[in-house]
Amino acid sequence: MIILGIDTSCDDTSLALIDRDRRILAHIISSQADLHGLFGGVVPEIASRKHVELIDGIYNDVLEKAGISAGDIDLVGVTSGPGLIGSVLVGLSFAKGLCLAGNIPLIGVNHVEAHAMSIFLEREAEFPFVALVVSGGHTIILAFDAPCSFKVIGSTLDDAAGEAFDKIAKFLGLGYPGGRIIEEMARTGSPDHVAFPRPMMDDAGCNFSFSGLKTAFITYAKKHPVDASNINDVLASFQEAVCDVLVSKTFRAARQSNMERIVVGGGVAANGRLREVFLERARREGFEVMISSPLFCTDNGAMIASLASFYAAAGTCSALDIKAYSRMVMK
Ligand code: KG4
Ligand code: ZN
Repeated sequence: MIILGIDTSCDDTSLALIDRDRRILAHIISSQADLHGLFGGVVPEIASRKHVELIDGIYNDVLEKAGISAGDIDLVGVTSGPGLIGSVLVGLSFAKGLCLAGNIPLIGVNHVEAHAMSIFLEREAEFPFVALVVSGGHTIILAFDAPCSFKVIGSTLDDAAGEAFDKIAKFLGLGYPGGRIIEEMARTGSPDHVAFPRPMMDDAGCNFSFSGLKTAFITYAKKHPVDASNINDVLASFQEAVCDVLVSKTFRAARQSNMERIVVGGGVAANGRLREVFLERARREGFEVMISSPLFCTDNGAMIASLASFYAAAGTCSALDIKAYSRMVMK
């Protein structure tokens, strides 16, 4: 059983081939970050055009890397949403073409669910668990009782956490994507330099809000000089506020759902400080926290192939006329 996974949800064109045990046979992620960096953020029209240019070559490259031919593919999994609609459509149309031409089953998967389940590329995890997906497009908590079976129990009311990192980096002219750059600079900064707010941290629910924190940062930076002498401290303080809120809310969600296992995925989960805070708290409180390796936190085709393998095992298959969608489908 060989599964091809395709993700073109945002600005990475990624294809992977995995086997029935979710072992990776080939995996390519082609980032467009340099291109979008010129504009300080993803330009949807440029992203979809670039996917069109790249996808065919990357498809041939993963086949070559894995040493197989197109006829060996048994199943195609592809992101059908949520994402930038023009970008999603490129991967989905390509996948439909392959399936139609090769008479291969197609499974359209939810990109956010794939982030939540990406841990299975590296290890088994026991159900039930609570999953935090924290990326550029989403900050959302899902409660899974079994593979392919989840409920949304919390989500951001405005900006996603990654979006807040990206917007602050853009405001300071640091480059794109902001998360990794801010983490790098914050490494030598003091997290206690500025007491940024922790929005919604103390309310009883599991929702988030990051737009106020972003505004608090910008207001601070307009009132106080942020220069080479203190920028790393200010960024470390901001990062600490984001980590505090994400960790507190996820633990609250786990407690409220009576679950002792927490899974974390999505681009922001590559952040070393966030990983540290999650693991420290897990040790203190006796929870099991599982975080994907950084490579599988950010967008990748392997997690799409992996999630497709669960749906295939459950006997699910998509029709060739499935639609692309831009917003998270709430279950
Ligand atoms: O999951 P992802 O690759 O794409 C989406 O589905 O959105 O996440 C991208 C987001 C960006 O906002 C980026 O700034 C953030 O993840 N990110 C990070 C780090 N690496 C990527 N944020 C904080 N620290 C990082 N090391
Ligand atoms: Zn993503």
